[in-house]
Amino acid sequence: MPQELRAVDWTGNSLALIDQTVLPQRTETRHIRDVDDLVDAIRRLVVRGAPAIGAAGAYGVALAMLQGEREGWSRDQVLTAVARIREARPTAVNLMVCVDRVLTRFDDGLEAVLAEAAAVQREDVAANRAMGAFGADWLLKRVGVDRPLRVLTHCNTGALATAGWGTALGVIRELHARGALEVVYADETRPLLQGSRLTAWELVQEGIPHFVQADGAAAGTILRGEVDAAIVGADRIAANGDTANKVGTVGVALACADAGVPFLVAAPTTTVDVATATGADIHIELRDESEVLEWSGIRTAPAGSRGHNPAFDVTPGRLVTALVTERGVLEVSAGELPGDRLS
Ligand code: MRU
Repeated sequence: MPQELRAVDWTGNSLALIDQTVLPQRTETRHIRDVDDLVDAIRRLVVRGAPAIGAAGAYGVALAMLQGEREGWSRDQVLTAVARIREARPTAVNLMVCVDRVLTRFDDGLEAVLAEAAAVQREDVAANRAMGAFGADWLLKRVGVDRPLRVLTHCNTGALATAGWGTALGVIRELHARGALEVVYADETRPLLQGSRLTAWELVQEGIPHFVQADGAAAGTILRGEVDAAIVGADRIAANGDTANKVGTVGVALACADAGVPFLVAAPTTTVDVATATGADIHIELRDESEVLEWSGIRTAPAGSRGHNPAFDVTPGRLVTALVTERGVLEVSAGELPGDRLS
């Protein structure tokens, strides 16, 4: 197995991010030393995926403290800089949760902040490993077929999207390690292609058989009976199980419901926001219209068209067969709601 990827790493004086905007053509690491660059990296998806931006935000507190020391900032200026990191993207709650957690150590100094950020990173990897096992156990018990599984996924939820191993892709990796996986259908995930660029890249590294398919192919693949289960990650899960994830996820969930195929969400409890009652209260990031009107810098839609570019959609909890967290599996559509079980 190749060495485990670290999308986010602390080098001692900088934050090393694998630049996810240039994969799979190039594997490049960006060394981030100041707050403006970190905010820009989060916004441009150099680092992306809810748990990975949580880890980047956690180390971002240390980064702001170091920059403050270099540039003679006041305490308030450092805290204002941290607030900018916290708000760099609005939907994934992990960013706010992880920054707030590390901020509780702010007055104990840089070493304490770095230790807390390292704990965030370590705990995320452990959570992913636990989810992998819980999710694989559940699928093997509940799908009830006597052959390796065919699993569909949307967006990228692997090592690149987390502190390591992955959430939904971690479950898929665990199935593969157990010899229980036939093939993965990886939705390409328009408009920024996290599926075809990043998930497929990780699957190639792991030697996991897969097809990349257009997002528009997913419902047909599911309805034709070619998929045993779909599993995705999440950016924020409301108390009632409504789940914000990469745009296109709700279509996968609807097709699964129609076909009677289990639709699973795998996410650490840092993604569960019990303070948010329903999906209607989740702030969905609207990204620049150029991402849907252009391809690789070339205009594809006619001049005069406007673009609608929500980065996420909300899958109603009634369509979520099961939520896999590091604490176990909740059968959400059967009434096991995160707000009751995880608060
Ligand atoms: O815009 P992105 O690439 O950050 O969106 C990522 C997703 O929607 C992922 O599915 C989600 O963050 C879970 S990552 C383990």
